[in-house]
Amino acid sequence: MKNVVIIYWSGTGNTEAMAEGIMEGAKNEDSNVRLLNVGDAKVEDVINANVIAFGCPSMGAEQLEESEMEPFIESIASVVSGKNIVLFGSYGWGNGEWMTDWQERMEKYGANVIVDGLIINNDADKEGIEKCKEIGALLSTK
Ligand SMILES: Cc1cc2nc3c(=O)[nH]c(=O)nc-3n(C[C@H](O)[C@H](O)[C@H](O)COP(=O)(O)O)c2cc1C
Repeated sequence: MKNVVIIYWSGTGNTEAMAEGIMEGAKNEDSNVRLLNVGDAKVEDVINANVIAFGCPSMGAEQLEESEMEPFIESIASVVSGKNIVLFGSYGWGNGEWMTDWQERMEKYGANVIVDGLIINNDADKEGIEKCKEIGALLSTK
């Protein structure tokens, strides 16, 4: 059984909707898929997973959310090496810089980023949710 975990932060629900789409796409008979708000996630959830999706919107000035997501990502720096991961999140008015920075950071930690981070402007439309499901399906094959 493959362990897939999706760990996210969302203030107004846009990234949460993406996380739910990814979960939908990842579900199959060979995968145990868990969806965790970052406030409920532990370093062990990352250690024990085969594949991890991390989600966070662009906050601050092109940064991760600072009170929960940023410290969580810092706390897993030494355990993600060699793990298959994907990143996703919603953004408002920016150019997606937070996602490229985040991806570079995870690669520096040694994570295997299996596909470029999925970014969606504000709330995902039907097409956006389909993209989330596709990412989920990809996760469950890794
Ligand atoms: C405090 C704050 C800072 C933000 N900073 C950025 C930013 O730097 N760049 C950007 O594109 N969007 C920014 N946004 C917009 C959010 O990324 C956007 O509203 C997103 O859809 C929120 O996702 P959520 O519903 O998952 O919280 C910011 C929003 C807030 C509330």
